[in-house]
Amino acid sequence: MQTSHATPTPATRCSRCLGAGLGLAGLLATIIATACTPDVPLPNKYLDEADSSPCGDVTYQNFAADFFGRYCLRCHNEQLIGDTNRFDAPTGINFNTLSDVRGFQARIRLRAGVQGDMPPKLLPVPQPTDEDRMMLIRWIDCGTPES
Ligand code: HEC
Repeated sequence: MQTSHATPTPATRCSRCLGAGLGLAGLLATIIATACTPDVPLPNKYLDEADSSPCGDVTYQNFAADFFGRYCLRCHNEQLIGDTNRFDAPTGINFNTLSDVRGFQARIRLRAGVQGDMPPKLLPVPQPTDEDRMMLIRWIDCGTPES
């Protein structure tokens, strides 16, 4: 006879979060951390455009530094200490510098470029346009040039 279930249902997890009596920021951060953030895949025409554009014109200085500053540093910022301040962005995953970004470029390409679940959709933070995401993919595929 089966006596227990190995994994809690989402409903169980959610009521536990609510029961913890967290503040709004903490609750939202918890929702994100439990991976309820929806994907918003980049339309194919932008993926094709990223593929077919020549390298050389998109750089860290003229594009990427501003992109990360605008859309990622609210959470992935070495100056933010503590899970609540970081909206639960993992400690040590920061995008303050070009070398920080290079260390995570494959995951950045996937999460912010192709899949579109970074930045998280459930928080009031600015979201990149499809054009921005296309430029990000192109910049990474061209080898993350600085200038
Ligand atoms: C509102 C806060 C917030 C913002 C803004 C944000 N993130 Fe995140 N990020 C998180 C949280 C929370 C996690 C951990 C949960 C997860 O992986 O979904 C995370 C995890 C990640 C990871 C590591 C997980 C993996 O897939 O390897 C990457 C890479 C990432 N984010 C990229 C980005 C990029 C790029 C941006 C900007 C375009 C961004 N994030 C903006 C909160 C944020």
